[in-house]
Amino acid sequence: MKVIYPGSFDPLTLGHIDMIKRLSNMFDEVIVAVLINENKKSVFTLEERKEIIKKQIKNDGLDNVVIKYFDGLLVNFAKETGVYTVARGLREVTDYEYEKNIAMFNSKLMNGLETIFLLSDPKYSYISSSGVREVAKFHGDVSSFVSKDVELAIKEKFNY
Ligand code: PNS
Repeated sequence: MKVIYPGSFDPLTLGHIDMIKRLSNMFDEVIVAVLINENKKSVFTLEERKEIIKKQIKNDGLDNVVIKYFDGLLVNFAKETGVYTVARGLREVTDYEYEKNIAMFNSKLMNGLETIFLLSDPKYSYISSSGVREVAKFHGDVSSFVSKDVELAIKEKFNY
């Protein structure tokens, strides 16, 4: 069975990596679906985000993880790939409220689409890409939130 793990991954955090590893143990294939969001200005380009994830999954030896892009509605991507299970991580109650809403929209838009949730590992439950971007913007130490490779990519991007 395959699963889609969608997100912006701007950038990939330790929380995302933990999710990908856990999903790769549970499913035959994990499709990491990186959102192409023209409206939302990302710090890392689509190609950079993809490269970071690619390097990470190679380093971690996750052979059953593939990376794809998607634009527009997630349900259309699910239809195109023929994978109708989507996984998201839940860090806090606020995530639940936000995610529940999206999951309900998605299941209404596409009959049979299921969203499953994994509880974040508590040690990563405060980490967000937006928090990492904020720290990086002011040249702070991001080493507790991202992998070494992502830290290097951040330092290159933010010139420090
Ligand atoms: O990493 P993020 O930014 O929290 O990921 C959010 C994402 C990409 C999963 C979500 O915004 C999404 O699926 N966007 C695509 C548009 C869509 O299908 N929205 C659902 C109906 S409201």
